[in-house]
Amino acid sequence: MKVSISNLKNDPQIIEQLTTAYRNSYNTLSAGYKAPEEMALYTQDYFRQKVKRFAAENEKSSVSRTFVVFLDDRPVGFVRYSRIPEYYKQNPGGETRDLEHGMMDGYEYAWYRKVKFVDNVKLDDSTMILNQIYLDPSVQRLGLGTYILAQTLPKMKEKGVRNLILEYNAQNSNAEKFYRFFGFKALADTEDLDHILRKDNRTRFYISKVKMVHVPVEEAMAKANAKMDEIRRVKAQGLGRILIGLLQNKTARK
Ligand SMILES: CC(C)(COP(=O)(O)OP(=O)(O)OC[C@H]1O[C@@H](n2cnc3c(N)ncnc32)[C@H](O)[C@@H]1OP(=O)(O)O)[C@@H](O)C(=O)NCCC(=O)NCCS
Repeated sequence: MKVSISNLKNDPQIIEQLTTAYRNSYNTLSAGYKAPEEMALYTQDYFRQKVKRFAAENEKSSVSRTFVVFLDDRPVGFVRYSRIPEYYKQNPGGETRDLEHGMMDGYEYAWYRKVKFVDNVKLDDSTMILNQIYLDPSVQRLGLGTYILAQTLPKMKEKGVRNLILEYNAQNSNAEKFYRFFGFKALADTEDLDHILRKDNRTRFYISKVKMVHVPVEEAMAKANAKMDEIRRVKAQGLGRILIGLLQNKTARK
């Protein structure tokens, strides 16, 4: 099976397959800690619109860059790097906040965020946010996440990116282990208040705790490369054992 990575393109078949992988990954993860009403918003079309937007951004904007990982010709996951939002750069007293308001699927929503920094890291244009990294559940924990970072971090470094930050839900302990493995350290704690005003005027609030972490690109790259070497060694040993086994069988049959 061949593993490869490339820029997300606006190809309808790739978009649809990647949408399914993204939805499977996100929904499997979130069902553990999100309310059923909130989960109902995460339809195939919700993810399709997002993936289409990522593809459009790849073609004609410098706001974000999305890379897709393929097993043979099948897209099984992606990573997306984006410019950091302006409000991160303004944090007098170690705090900042943001407010977003709009319509989604006929619902009015507001999103309010309070951010409390726990480390003093300079956030500027040499910092990018690793906004999303998602793999279909059927291919998680096989080293593909490491492969994605090992392949894409050098590309980001070439573009002048020195630091990475990212966010994850405080309850996503698997992602936390993955990020810690690559050297990410605490940057800020956030409290997100999702206020969803339904059409029938019933209002719902969802509060989620989100952790922000940071790492120098060089450090994450070194860890990803070391892990890829380890994966290759283990694979080679495995292959070696199979070959030895085959040879022994052949000898025994003589
Ligand atoms: C997070 C994710 C991208 C990691 O990719 P992956 O291919 O599964 O991870 P890898 O196999 O490359 O793991 C590398 C190392 O990270 C750590 N790690 C990764 N997943 C882990 C888990 N579930 N539990 C414990 N450690 C984990 C381990 O140290 C692992 O090395 P090891 O397998 O030799 O012990 C993938 O699991 C995923 O898509 N998860 C669901 C979506 C998600 O949570 N995305 C992040 C949202 S913020």
